[in-house]
Amino acid sequence: MKLLVTGGAGFIGSAVIRHIIRNTRDEVVNLDKLTYAGNLESLAEVSDSSRYAFEQVDICNRTEVGRVLKDHQPDAVMHLAAESHVDRSIDGPTDFIETNIVGTYTLLEAVRQYWQTLESERRQDFRFHHISTDEVYGDL
Ligand SMILES: NC(=O)c1ccc[n+]([C@@H]2O[C@H](COP(=O)([O-])OP(=O)(O)OC[C@H]3O[C@@H](n4cnc5c(N)ncnc54)[C@H](O)[C@@H]3O)[C@@H](O)[C@H]2O)c1
Repeated sequence: MKLLVTGGAGFIGSAVIRHIIRNTRDEVVNLDKLTYAGNLESLAEVSDSSRYAFEQVDICNRTEVGRVLKDHQPDAVMHLAAESHVDRSIDGPTDFIETNIVGTYTLLEAVRQYWQTLESERRQDFRFHHISTDEVYGDL
């Protein structure tokens, strides 16, 4: 199985990728813009694995996200890319609107288009898993 993990250089995403490479035979593509919160050093132990690939891409960039999906042909997406330190949104909300709302929408649309190209069994098995919290979902 091949997983596309967005935000894989972040706190949770990097732990997810290390876990997958260490404990499964699955392949992982890490799609991350590398904002101040992204740190490739947390992926040092997996960076040489033939089952790991890194793409420095912004989820708001529809063309590049589409290219990554086409090139890597993932079986599932785990979406963790986000502006996650909510205190910063008070002084500067733009990045939060762009990444958490517009970027998530852009990614969903790109994945929907990619999903429509899959043959029926892969389409049925495909999953989009959005991992987040109130910064993205809002108060419940
Ligand atoms: N850390 C926690 O305790 C916690 C708890 C509950 C939920 N969450 C949620 O889980 C998700 C991941 O959290 P985290 O702590 O790993 O966040 P993080 O800030 O450590 O990492 C976010 C990653 O997303 C990347 N990123 C940001 N904007 C991007 C963009 N436009 N395109 C591509 N990549 C981009 C960053 O470079 C970074 O690597 C978030 O939605 C967060 O709200 C986190």
